[in-house]
Amino acid sequence: MKVIHLSVECYPIAKVGGLADVIGALPKYQRKLGVDAQVVMPWYDKPSLQQFDLEKVAEGVFLQGSQSLTYTVYAIAEQHLGFPIYLIKVPGLLDRNEVYGYADEGEQWIAFQHAFLNWILTDNIRPDVINCHDHHVGLIPFLLQYGNDFRELSYIKTLFTIHNGQYQGWMNWNKGILLPGFDTWKWGLLDWSGVINPFSSAIRCCDAFSTVSEGYLEELSQECKGLEQLFIDESSRGFGIVNGIDWDVWDPSSDPLIPYHYSNITVKTGKRKNKEAFCKKANLPSDSLLLTYIGRFAEEKGADILSEVIRNFYSKNEKKLIIFILGSGNEQIQQDLELLCQSYPNRVSAFFGYNETLAHEAYAASDLILMPSRVEPCGLNQLYALKYGTIPVVRGIGGLKDTVIDISEPKGYGFVFKEFEVDKIVETIERAIEFSLDEKKWASIVKQSMALDYSWDKSAKKYIELYNQLLK
Ligand code: GLC
Repeated sequence: MKVIHLSVECYPIAKVGGLADVIGALPKYQRKLGVDAQVVMPWYDKPSLQQFDLEKVAEGVFLQGSQSLTYTVYAIAEQHLGFPIYLIKVPGLLDRNEVYGYADEGEQWIAFQHAFLNWILTDNIRPDVINCHDHHVGLIPFLLQYGNDFRELSYIKTLFTIHNGQYQGWMNWNKGILLPGFDTWKWGLLDWSGVINPFSSAIRCCDAFSTVSEGYLEELSQECKGLEQLFIDESSRGFGIVNGIDWDVWDPSSDPLIPYHYSNITVKTGKRKNKEAFCKKANLPSDSLLLTYIGRFAEEKGADILSEVIRNFYSKNEKKLIIFILGSGNEQIQQDLELLCQSYPNRVSAFFGYNETLAHEAYAASDLILMPSRVEPCGLNQLYALKYGTIPVVRGIGGLKDTVIDISEPKGYGFVFKEFEVDKIVETIERAIEFSLDEKKWASIVKQSMALDYSWDKSAKKYIELYNQLLK
C-alpha cells in the first residue's frame, strides 16, 4: 500500500506545533509495518534543510488564475528521516522562511495543492491513499473528485486528519479564480456560509476523516466554529486515533539532548541531576517542585491565564514551587509573562522562543507540567512529560481527557481539572504539591507514568486499518 501524507509542517524540517511532530514520526512507524508511507510538503528557506542532500526529481508549470507558476520537487532519501520526503518549491510563494503568517497564505496553499496534483498526475505517481493533514491541504479531496484535470486520480482514497479545527483556511470567493478548474456546479462543496472553507470541504469530500483523539471527535459536534451540525451529520465517517510519540526522539534513557540519562529504575537520581543542571541554567533554586509550561502563547492553550494563575498561587505559598516557561506567540501574553518573571526573579524563569534542546531538558528536569488548554485536540506535551516521569496537571478536555487519569481514580497518575478557572487551576496545583509530600506515592506514579505506552506503534496500526477499510 502506498500512502502520501500531505502536510505543511514536518519535524525536523519545519516545526511550529505538534502537527510537525506527528508528520515526522507517523510515516516512519507505518513503514515499519510494511506500508510505503511518504511525506510531501512545501519547500522552505530554512537552515534545517541544509543538512540534507536535496535531489531534484521533477519540475513543471501550472496556471494560478492568469499567472503561470513553476514548481520544482526535491527529494530527501529515506535513510535520513526514516521515510522519503518530497518538498515542492514554487518561486514567489513556496520559498519563504516561515510556515505561517503571510497575507497571501491562501495563494500559497492553493499553489501547493495544485503543484502536488500536477506532479503526481504527470509523473504517474499513484498512491492508494492520500492522508491530508489540516485545512492547508483540505482542497485535495474536492479537487480529486471534481477537478477537471485530475479525473485520472479520482480513484485515490482520501483520509482527512484534523489536528486543529479552530483554523479552517477561510477564503473570500474572489480567490475562487485561483483554483484549478473544476465542475462549477459543485461549487457548493467548497462553500460554507458564503466563503471558501477548505476545512469543511475536506470533511464533505473525503472518504473518511480522523481526529487526533476520541475525546476531540466528540467535542467537534459541540464546538467547531459553526461546523457542529456538519460533524453530527457526518459522524459515521469520523474516527478518533490518539497520537503517539516518537521514542527514537523522546526517551530519557537515550535522549542526546539531556545531560543525564535515566530509566524507570534510576529515575529518582536521574531527574534530580537533570533538575540541578537545568535550574542552574535557568537561574532558579532547585529545592522546590518545578512546574513547567511549554507551548505556544495562544488562548487555545490557555497561555493567557498563566500569569494570573501563578500570581494567585504565589500570593499564598510562594516557597513551594518554581516555574519555568518556554514558548512564543501572542505578544501581550509574552509581556505579561515577562512582568511575572520580574516580580518573582528567583521563582519564575522563562525562555521566549522555540528551542528543542531546552524543551527536552525541561521535561527531564521538571516535576510537573501544566496544560490549561481551552481546546486540545490531542496534546503531545503531556505524552512527552509522562515518558520523562513528569506528572501532568491538565484540563480534562479533548486528548488530555483521554490520556491523563486523575489521581483520585483507579490507576490515576495525573491531576485533572474541568473548569477553565484560575481558582480551580490553583487548587489542582496545590493538590499535586500535597500529593508530592508522600515520597513513596509520588515515586510510584512517576514510575507508572514512565511505563505507559503512548508510542506510535499502536496508533500507526490504527491508521493502516482505516486505510484498509477505505480500500475495501
Ligand atoms: C495540534 C493540536 C494538538 C495536537 C497536534 C498534533 O497542534 O493543537 O493538540 O497534539 O496538533 O496532532
